[in-house]
Amino acid sequence: MKLVQLLGFYVLCLTLVACKKKPEIKQRGPHEFNYDNQGADWHDACHNGRRQSPINIDSEQATKDSISPINFVSYDVPLKTPIKVTNNGHSVYMHIPDTINGEKPYINGGMLTGDFEAIEVHFHWGSVSRKGSEHAINRERFDVEMHIVHKRTDFYSVAAAKLKDGGLAVLCIFLRASSDTDSEVYGLNNIFNQLPRLLKPNSFVSIFGELYLKDILGNLDTDEFYTYNGSLTTPTCNEVVTFTIFTDVLDVKRTHIEKFWALRDSRNKLLINNYRNFMPINGRPIYFRAGQQNIQTMPKSYLAMLLILSKTIIRFYK
Ligand SMILES: *[C@@H]1O[C@H](CO)[C@@H](O)[C@H](O)[C@H]1NC(C)=O
Ligand SMILES: [Zn+2]
Repeated sequence: MKLVQLLGFYVLCLTLVACKKKPEIKQRGPHEFNYDNQGADWHDACHNGRRQSPINIDSEQATKDSISPINFVSYDVPLKTPIKVTNNGHSVYMHIPDTINGEKPYINGGMLTGDFEAIEVHFHWGSVSRKGSEHAINRERFDVEMHIVHKRTDFYSVAAAKLKDGGLAVLCIFLRASSDTDSEVYGLNNIFNQLPRLLKPNSFVSIFGELYLKDILGNLDTDEFYTYNGSLTTPTCNEVVTFTIFTDVLDVKRTHIEKFWALRDSRNKLLINNYRNFMPINGRPIYFRAGQQNIQTMPKSYLAMLLILSKTIIRFYK
């Protein structure tokens, strides 16, 4: 009897030790975030940072400046295929391979401090009832926001660039859902057409055929943009990104955008509304480069005078 009790006690002790050694708290890695609260419950720099993204841009408060345009280099050289497109549980991203010449497409100009090579393209979207762009202009959101992520060429890796001020440059392109069936962006169709095969998180597909990175920009007018210093818009929200946000918007078929709304996250919930709340600007300068159509060469009073004059002439000849 005593031996049994002793054995029982021994087993109990072992169980307690075993339980103590197996912590139930799961480590919260950067890959386990979700958009249930549009990022309001994210930690660390996402919570404490002072130059976070995205932001709402008030056009009246932007500093108009003579900024050079963005130069796109080797965006018009075919990419090596296959190209991998992945549902990573919080977005869909396309890895950008080298061009057939063995280099990465890259950009410079704007307020960028050097050459930045293209790393990946991903998207932020809404749902049936919500527009899903991350940035907004004068509180206006758009249906989808495409991010083309670039890293400074002199940083060895993306991981290294994420730790250095000015290490990354993101180009933001707004997409608008159009009921016009002629609205096509050939390069984006390559991605949209794969979405039904990417419903599950961690699924991926390969795209073959000839693709130029410039194809995903369609006929976007890249002359006009806003630019500011901000952060990654996903954990760990590193404050290392120069954003360039084009004011021109790409029209794409609504039926294509709807395909995003069927994707699933790692909890098997619908992966929708994967955009973060607006973050405080905290006095950061926002710069604006005006495109051709917005450069006012004539004073307004002069234009008004011309208008009155032409109206008078028309009346005279009636
Ligand atoms: C970003 O920050 C750097 C260094 O603080 C500054 O030189 C640069 O002008 C800033 N760029 C923009 C677009 O605000
Ligand atoms: Zn993004």
